[in-house]
Amino acid sequence: MGAELNALREQLLVHVREQGGATDALVADALRTVPRHIFLPDLPPDAAYRDEAIVTKRDADGQPTSSSSQPTIMAIMLDQLGAARGHRVLEIGAGTGFNAALINHIVGPKGKVVSIDLDPEIVERAEDNLSAAGCEGIKVLNTDGALGCPDKAPYDRIIATVGVWDLAPAWHEQLKPAGRLVVPLDLRGVQRSVAFERAGDHWTSISASPCGFMRMRGTFAGPERNYVLDRQTHLTAALPEARELDTAAVLETLDAPEVEIRTGVTPERFELFDGFGLWLAVREPRWFGLSEVEPGTRLANAPLRAPGTVATAGILDDFGLATLSAEDGELVVTGTERIADELAAHVVAWDEAGRPGSAGLRIDAYPAGTPADGEIVIDKKCVRLVLGWS
Ligand SMILES: C[S@@+](CC[C@H](N)C(=O)[O-])C[C@H]1O[C@@H](n2cnc3c(N)ncnc32)[C@H](O)[C@@H]1O
Repeated sequence: MGAELNALREQLLVHVREQGGATDALVADALRTVPRHIFLPDLPPDAAYRDEAIVTKRDADGQPTSSSSQPTIMAIMLDQLGAARGHRVLEIGAGTGFNAALINHIVGPKGKVVSIDLDPEIVERAEDNLSAAGCEGIKVLNTDGALGCPDKAPYDRIIATVGVWDLAPAWHEQLKPAGRLVVPLDLRGVQRSVAFERAGDHWTSISASPCGFMRMRGTFAGPERNYVLDRQTHLTAALPEARELDTAAVLETLDAPEVEIRTGVTPERFELFDGFGLWLAVREPRWFGLSEVEPGTRLANAPLRAPGTVATAGILDDFGLATLSAEDGELVVTGTERIADELAAHVVAWDEAGRPGSAGLRIDAYPAGTPADGEIVIDKKCVRLVLGWS
C-alpha cells in the first residue's frame, strides 16, 4: 500500500504541475511527501489523491464550513507564498491541517508554523491528523484568524486558506517588513488569491490567481449572501452583499425570459470564469451568480461547469434580471429586455478590451480613508482596494 500511495502522490503532483501549480521545488517536494490521506481519515486512501476539494464539515443547512482545498489551488497559493527554509508562517484556516503540514515540510525544522481555526472541533481534528502524520512542532490555535497570533509574531509569511473580505490590521502588524501575505480576497463577490507585499504605506499585489474558498466567519465575515431559490434542484443565487430577493419573480423570469440576445462572443471556459466573471463583478454593482447541481435544470445551458455544479452570472435589479448561457460556445443573454441589453453590452465591452482577466491585474490596498484613486475602487472597512490592469 505504501508504494501505491507514493505512486498516487507522484501522479497527483504531475497533474498539479500540468495545471500550473507546484512550480516551486519546495512546494513540489512537500506535495510528493506529505500524506494527504492521513488528513482525510473518512475517505478511502486513494480518493485523497484526486485533485478535488473534499468537504469535511457542514452546518445545519448543509452548507460546507470546512474542507481540504483542491490540491492544485493549494499548490498555486504556496507558490505565491514563496515560503523558504527557516521561515515563520501563520496560516488562517487550519481545516484538516494538511496545508499546515505542507508548509511545515517547506520551512523545515528551523522554521515555525502556526495555524488558526475558528471551530474548536476542527482544531481538535487537525491536531489529531497532524499527530497521525507524525508532523511535530505545528501550533494549532482555536481563535478568530482576524486576530492572528501575536505570541509567535513576527512572521515571514501569512496565508489565509479561507475567503477574506477585508485585510485585518493584525496581519499587517504581525508580518515582518519584508514579509508576504497571500489571501483569497473578495473582489465584490468573486475571489482572487492575491500575494501582497508592502509598498510604503500600503500593500501592493505581486500576483493574483482565480480561486473559490468558503468565506471567513467571525468578526471579519463579509456581507455576501447566498439564497436558495429551489431546494429540489439546489438552485442558489449568490449576491455580493445582502439585498432583498423576490425569489418567485427571479424563478418566473428564468422560466419565461422576455428576450434572447446572441453576443457573437465565444470565449474559452477559463477566459469566461477568470475574465468575464471578474469584469462583471467589479464593474456592475447589480451582478449576481447562479449555481445548480449538475447537469442543471434551469441552468442546463449554463456556460460554466465544474464537477458537481453548473453556474452562470448576470444582472439582477428591482425590474428584472438577465443571465448568460452558452450555445455551441457562443455566449447568449436571456432575461428582461433592458437588463439583457446591458449584460450583452458588458460581454461585448469585455471582448473588445481584449478579454482581461487575472493576468496583468494589479491590486493596491490602502488604509481605509486614503484618497487613492484608479480604474476600479472597492472600499472595505479597513482598506481601500484600487484595481488596474497592465
Ligand atoms: C477551506 S478550510 C481550510 C483548509 C485547510 N487549510 C486544509 O489544509 O485543510 C477553511 C477553514 O477556515 C476556517 N475559518 C472560517 N472562518 C475563520 C476565522 N474567522 N478564523 C479562522 N478560521 C476560520 C473554517 O472553520 C475552515 O476550517
